[in-house]
Amino acid sequence: VKHSSKKRWCKKYVRATFPKRDKYAHKGSNGRGLVIGGQLTMPGAIVLAARAALRSGAGLITVATVKENIPIVSSSCIEATYHLLPNLTNRLTDRDLEAFEKIDAIAVGMGIGREDSQLLSDLIEKLDKPLLIDADGLYHAKPLLEPLLQHKAPVVITPHYGEMAMLTDKTVPEVKRSPFSISRQFAEKHQLYVVLKGKYTVITAPDGEQIVSDQGNAGLAKGGTGDVLSGILLTMVMQHKELLSALANGCYLHGKSADYLVEEDHTERDLLATDVIEGLSQVFRTLS
Ligand code: APR
Ligand code: MG
Repeated sequence: VKHSSKKRWCKKYVRATFPKRDKYAHKGSNGRGLVIGGQLTMPGAIVLAARAALRSGAGLITVATVKENIPIVSSSCIEATYHLLPNLTNRLTDRDLEAFEKIDAIAVGMGIGREDSQLLSDLIEKLDKPLLIDADGLYHAKPLLEPLLQHKAPVVITPHYGEMAMLTDKTVPEVKRSPFSISRQFAEKHQLYVVLKGKYTVITAPDGEQIVSDQGNAGLAKGGTGDVLSGILLTMVMQHKELLSALANGCYLHGKSADYLVEEDHTERDLLATDVIEGLSQVFRTLS
């Protein structure tokens, strides 16, 4: 699919770009993803991301989080495997790096907190893996835009308007006024993919190409839905050859799941992030 400027991503494009499921697939060929984050006060963020990644069809998901979180996180997501980190601030050890060697892509930042941390700079420097950075990971990324430019694999950032304002030293109203040009400038300058989330989500490639995703509803305006999107995008990044379509398809799945749920079992008022994960199967069914 050739993208013209600001293409509105609809079902036709999803169907044209969505990867076929291989009959002879094994878990390795469906992608091994790593989800890193989850402070003690925010274990839910990482549960949501990991579960969303698995529900989106990843072969294997490893969650790297602080030791104390493992019981709660693992009981809510028994299909994942776990990697214990003593904390989310130290440098990665050789043992960590060795464990992450087989990973196909990494999502980092959900519930990671804003405490000073060496973790992201190590992920950038020592692992040549596609890297999706979300939530508080974006605070850690701001001073690392130079090293990110040197990263040997694609980088995706998924800010909401407030996080985009923080990254660009603009105000939220400024970002709201010009989401397209601000995203494009940032993506081109720092050579990364930007998923600027809101009622309309603007997805921009490092070459400036842009897609708008207008699926979803105000039921998504709740804590945790962004973490779900990160998990979905992690799996999409692992399973698509072309990254802009991967991100657009992920946003479509996320928004469409919420739309189906609000048409049927839920309302915008009571919809929760976990429901959005459960709603994915209904969206997948319309794509096969
Ligand atoms: N219509 C359509 N989609 C929406 C709408 C809406 N009215 N409101 C939100 N969404 C979608 C966004 O497009 C995005 O995909 O829901 C998701 C929300 O993602 P985030 O803003 O990252 O939310 P999340 O991280 O889950 O929770 C908010 O972010 O600012 C921090 O600390 C704050 O805990 C808070 C957290
Ligand atoms: Mg968020």
